[in-house]
This record gives sequence, C-alpha cells and structure tokens, in this order.
Amino acid sequence: MPNQLKAYSFIATSLDGFIAREDGGIDWLPTYGDEDYGYEEFFSSIDALVLGRNSYELILGFETWPYGDKPVVVLSSRSDQIPRPDGGRVYTSGGRVEEVVRDLTDSGYERVYVDGGKTIQAFIRSKALHAITISRIPVLLGSGIPLFGELEADVNLVHEATRSFPDGLVQSRYRFDYDRA
Ligand SMILES: NC(=O)c1ccc[n+]([C@@H]2O[C@H](COP(=O)([O-])OP(=O)(O)OC[C@H]3O[C@@H](n4cnc5c(N)ncnc54)[C@H](OP(=O)(O)O)[C@@H]3O)[C@@H](O)[C@H]2O)c1
Repeated sequence: MPNQLKAYSFIATSLDGFIAREDGGIDWLPTYGDEDYGYEEFFSSIDALVLGRNSYELILGFETWPYGDKPVVVLSSRSDQIPRPDGGRVYTSGGRVEEVVRDLTDSGYERVYVDGGKTIQAFIRSKALHAITISRIPVLLGSGIPLFGELEADVNLVHEATRSFPDGLVQSRYRFDYDRA
C-alpha cells in the first residue's frame, strides 16, 4: 500500500492577507538575498509540486525554471493549452484535488508542495492540505488576490511555530486539524 501523501504550502502574504496584487503583481515581496526565510530547506524536503495555472504562468515568466527536475502538476480546466517550460517535468491535471492526490500517491510521492491561492483553497476544502507556512510581510495592499476563501464550515488549525526576522517578516507554521469540530 502506498505511503500517505502529505501536502504542504509555503507562502507569503501581505499583513492584510493578499498573496498578490489584483493584477498578480508580487513586487512587494522581499527578494531572497542572504536570508531565504527557510525556503530552501522547505523546498529540499518536498518531492513534487502542485500549482494552479495562474501561479504556473507567473513562474513561466521567470528567467529560469525554479523547480529543477522535481515534477510539477499544473491544475487547469484547459490543460491542453498549458505551455511547457524548457527543461522541467510538467504534467497537467483537470483539477480535481482527490484525483491529483490519488495519482501522486500512486506514483510514490510523499511530500507535495501546493502553491497558488485558489489551489490552496481547493486543497483545504478537500481536507487535503496537511500544513501551511505563512510568511507575513509588513505591508498593507488594500486589495489583491486573497490567500483564503469561502468555506462550508470552520477549519481548525494547530499552531506549531512562529519566528520573526529582522526585516519584520513574521513566519508561522500551522497544521490542519480537520477532525476538530
Ligand atoms: N505570495 C506568494 O508567496 C505567492 C505564491 C504563489 C502565487 N502567488 C501569486 O498568486 C497568484 C495566483 O493565485 P490564484 O489564486 O490566482 O490562483 P492559482 O491557484 O495559482 O491558479 C488558479 C487556477 O488554476 C486552475 N485550476 C484548475 N483546477 C483547480 C482547482 N481544483 N483549484 C484551483 N484552481 C484550479 C484554474 O484555472 P483554469 O482557468 O485554467 O481552469 C484557476 O483559475 C499569482 O498572481 C501569483 O503571483 C503568490
């Protein structure tokens, strides 16, 4: 029987809860210099990624493909129209979280990085996100693309750790506790 797959998110938000401006802009995010806020450690711990199409298209605009040879599943209802990067292992899926999780589990993956606001929300609604690390940047954007969205019922989380950085970024890690009423 395959091991249980665990899905994780590692994402930055403005203090008012946005992951990007309305137009997708992320110019307000700090650039990684000497400090990477734990990203490399997190990235080296995962063995595959699931990205929403919007996040994937943003990444495709980067100068270099940032995910090496880790497999990336792009969720889209128009999966036949997904452009491919030079290099990189990109697969597409029609978007049902349960199917994606089952396929990745059957392929032997155990720790998956889930990225993109709508995609994270879909994983939470399907009770498929195991933990989330949120880095809060001390800026208010006023409007933008939210990290979280509507839910049918409350979702409880367990706070695992919080650390702060000299530039004011505050990073918290939470585990989901879907069974707690
Ligand atoms: N602050 C950060 O750390 C951070 C990290 C990542 C991304 N971002 C920003 O977040 C923005 C993208 O986030 P987003 O909320 O717009 O969306 P997203 O999750 O990246 O992409 C959503 C799209 O994925 C497709 N999709 C297919 N099945 C889906 C499913 N089950 N659940 C969700 N999506 C599904 C849909 O596109 P189709 O029309 O193709 O079906 C949907 O519109 C970008 O602007 C990026 O800059 C910020």
